[in-house]
This record gives sequence, structure tokens and C-alpha cells, in this order.
Amino acid sequence: MKFFVDTADTKEIRELADTGLVDGVTTNPSLVQKSGREFLDVVKEICSIVPGPVSAEVVALDHEGMMKEAEVLRKIADNVTIKVPLTIDGLKTCKALTEDGTMVNVTLCFSANQALLAAKAGATFISPFVGRLDDIGQDGMDLIADIRLIYDNYDYDTEILVASIRHPLHVLQAAKIGGDVMTAPPKVIKQLFNHPLTDKGLESFLADWKKTGQTIG
Ligand code: E4P
Repeated sequence: MKFFVDTADTKEIRELADTGLVDGVTTNPSLVQKSGREFLDVVKEICSIVPGPVSAEVVALDHEGMMKEAEVLRKIADNVTIKVPLTIDGLKTCKALTEDGTMVNVTLCFSANQALLAAKAGATFISPFVGRLDDIGQDGMDLIADIRLIYDNYDYDTEILVASIRHPLHVLQAAKIGGDVMTAPPKVIKQLFNHPLTDKGLESFLADWKKTGQTIG
């Protein structure tokens, strides 16, 4: 499973990239707003830190406007992935860009039928938002399972990018179902390292080691 970081905070991206865990990055207009920085500058910096796909979202609602914005964004670096919303114009843009060799992430997916449309439009990634479905009382992971089944039925190459991840259980469930990628905030990725028995075991190993009076090297 590939790990993407869902943030526009370059300090956090650098810190996690050093662990070798980061296969890509996703941003959205809200995350850019939170960073307080210029969108194009942030995307450029992220692309210089992470060689994998870096999603940058268009904000135009019409196909022509999306194509113009995508033109600006994809010039930033080869690993820029254009993020388009799951609308008719978004999928038209998806088709045009993928046919032109640009990676596309279709975002704001909340149903399996929408995911089917994105695959037919040639999307590189489909982003189903599990957390936001959970928020309205639907099980977001059911959607991931449905998309997995449908994509496998027809051998679609579109990668399922499990998004809107809120906690480590989402990561585990997505991995068990076979999501190709998960994108999570840095906080959730850091939580994956934690287990109380790891802390307890380390503490007791170090206490016993101290009793030996030895040093290494
Ligand atoms: C994905 O690409 C989105 O940026 C993100 O996962 C949305 O997550 P949220 O629902 O926590 O805002």
C-alpha cells in the first residue's frame, strides 16, 4: 500500500519523508489556506521534497477553466498530479489530461458509481472520502470495498486512493480491503508507530541493559 501525506505543511512533509514512508502528497484548497502560503510556491516546494505524485487541485468549475489551471500547475514539475472534482466538467478534464500523459486524481468521490465513471474517464487515482461518509452515518469503508470489487471485475488501472482518513483504524481497514493508496494527515501517520507494549518493552530492555554496566562500541 502506498502512503500519501494529506497536507500542505512542508515542514511536516520533510519530517515524514525522512522516514522513507512518503510515496506522494495530496493537497486541497482548504489545506493550502491552512498553510497560509502561495499555492504555486507550496506545490513547487512539495514536488522538490517528494518525487512521487503530488496532487494540486483546480478551482475552476468549467472544463476550459480547469484546463487553463491544469496547464499552469503541471508546468511546476513532472510529478504534479492534477486534482479535479467528480463532476461532468471534472471528468472531461480528467480524460483530456490523462490522454495527454498527465496524472489525474479525481476527488470528492462518495459513491461506487462515481468511482466507476472516474475509471472510465481514465483517472490515475480516485479519491473516495471515507471520513466524511462516516460523519453522515454511512460506513466509508463499505464504499472502498465496493470500488475494489468493481475495479477488479473490469481490471481498471485506476488506483483507489483512500482519502479523508481520520484515524489508524481507517488505515488498517483500507489495507485489508486492498486500497492501493491511503492519504492521511501527518498526525495519523505518526500514530501508526505507536503501541503501548513497544514503549513498555523498550523501557524494560533499557532498564536491564543499564544493570549490565556495558556500553556498545
Ligand atoms: C484528499 O485528497 C483530501 O485532501 C482529504 O483526504 C480530505 O480529508 P478531510 O475530509 O479530513 O478534509
